[in-house]
Amino acid sequence: MVRRVTASAPGKVILFGEHFVVYGKPSIVMAVDRRVYVTVEEYRSKEVFIESDLGYAGLFTNDAYKPLIGGLDGEHILKPIYIVATETLKYLSINSGLKISISSEIPIASGLGSSASTFIATATAAAYLFGYSLNYGELFNLSLIAEEYVHGTPSGVDQTIAIHGGLIKYSRSSGLEKIKSSADLPLIIGNTGILRSTGEMVAKVRRFTEKNPNIMETLLHNIERIVDEAKILLMKGDMEGLGFLMDRNQELLRIIDVSNKKLEELILAAKRAGALGAKLTGAGGGGCMIALVTDKVRNNVAKAIEDAGGKSLPANISIDGVKVKIHNSHS
Ligand code: MEV
Repeated sequence: MVRRVTASAPGKVILFGEHFVVYGKPSIVMAVDRRVYVTVEEYRSKEVFIESDLGYAGLFTNDAYKPLIGGLDGEHILKPIYIVATETLKYLSINSGLKISISSEIPIASGLGSSASTFIATATAAAYLFGYSLNYGELFNLSLIAEEYVHGTPSGVDQTIAIHGGLIKYSRSSGLEKIKSSADLPLIIGNTGILRSTGEMVAKVRRFTEKNPNIMETLLHNIERIVDEAKILLMKGDMEGLGFLMDRNQELLRIIDVSNKKLEELILAAKRAGALGAKLTGAGGGGCMIALVTDKVRNNVAKAIEDAGGKSLPANISIDGVKVKIHNSHS
């Protein structure tokens, strides 16, 4: 049996369709070349020790949390990881504890999918440690339990891209469809630095929908057309057309009130500096925006985002979804 396993999974940016995907509409999402790494080792039975480079460490013994670093705040950050780890062990009928160490290149609570990537990497590494390789459906279901803990009604898009990587169209009913883009899709991510909870943003949209069912129906119709058109433009490599559609998508996100002042400032700055299109990505309310750029304007857009008070991160597509590294006894 292997003694120590690391699994990693990519972060993501939603190019089109966040929030509306929760209501069954399609979305287009791209894995990015920043990953979460989760290393697991066997631990005392019934105990799960978790440490994270976010500055938290703690021990779960039969659901009770004992903080070791970072105080009780760590509990709600580490709890869903504990959930996915214990569900995975239960599913595989394994009676061992686990030591889990997490390090992330993806900023948390910013719309780039750090939670789902952590859950997928945790389930993958835990299973692998005991000689199992989980398939897509198993990984999806095990991580869904943790996603539901974080926010009640996840669409599944975050887990799906963390498992598969690449560029995909995803909807709840049809699952995933890989897209082959003819363009490179150079993006600049702009991080507002404002942390927010996906669950709260999804609940906010739920309230909007209950209050404005007819408006939501029109928006859902529009996003479907945008996503269908975007898929065609991706395959053609029509960057200008894609930029135009990103701007149209942002208009819909404004109507459901998930944008905010800082996101709008970064979006405006990026557009003024020559971005082909710009929109928030993920749940909104803070977190990140993305700008589609050409080589010519790439540096100007990054600078404009920084000047407007954001942190700019270049992002490229990651073809790799979740993957495993087994440590030999010396590493
Ligand atoms: C979060 O990355 C994407 C949302 O659409 C929520 C979801 O799809 O579960 C806001």
